[in-house]
Amino acid sequence: MERLQKVIAQSGITSRRKAEDLILAGRVSVNGNVVKELGTKVSYEDTIVVDGKTYFLEEKKVYLLNKPRGVICSVSDEVGRKTVVELIDTDKRIYPVGRLDYDTTGLLLLTNDGELANVLMHPRHHVEKTYVAKLNKFLEPGDLMKLKKGVLVEGVLCKPTRVTVKKYDKEKDYSIVEVTLVEGRNHIVKKLFLSLGYLVDKLTRIQYGFLTLEHLKSGEYRELSLKEVKKLYEYKR
Ligand code: URA
Repeated sequence: MERLQKVIAQSGITSRRKAEDLILAGRVSVNGNVVKELGTKVSYEDTIVVDGKTYFLEEKKVYLLNKPRGVICSVSDEVGRKTVVELIDTDKRIYPVGRLDYDTTGLLLLTNDGELANVLMHPRHHVEKTYVAKLNKFLEPGDLMKLKKGVLVEGVLCKPTRVTVKKYDKEKDYSIVEVTLVEGRNHIVKKLFLSLGYLVDKLTRIQYGFLTLEHLKSGEYRELSLKEVKKLYEYKR
């Protein structure tokens, strides 16, 4: 059993705050009865109607996937490419939390918990994401300094929390760079390096908040524990 406003928010209907307003205004009913009490407990078997629209609730799940290359980060694809959702064996209507590009690999969360997805994707909550990028050239020390100070990407400053060169080869002309960002603009890592004249040949996300890939191989996934999900919600504070 969960509080009604929490269930409404998790189901992606609206935010918890707005759900409270809707309840107080008498616009929410549970199993046919209008409910105006904020503390009302409901379960996933209950039918909730908000402003005349019926919502069937689902138990919330969060999965951590090691996304392979060549899979699209979406729930469906009009040209029939494999989607990340197809890699997870579940009857829940899950979707990816943010995006990794078709050719990017690594840590991706998928969930049917709309509230959690909003918490994690909101820039205000500063969830750190760590990527390992293989660059097409040796990263010049001057450019490393620029990265550390922050670079304008499409007119908006992108300042990594951390940047570390893991490996480089001046002869073979490449570098492997680990970069941690709190922001989540689409293609941000590729754009960040491109703004300094580098192409990202390979990109993997190795960390999302406190979560890492651990032993998961490409294409493998696991369900997060309740303790881990609660810890993810703590980013809201
Ligand atoms: N930044 C990118 O450029 N691509 C991704 O897939 C993720 C972050």
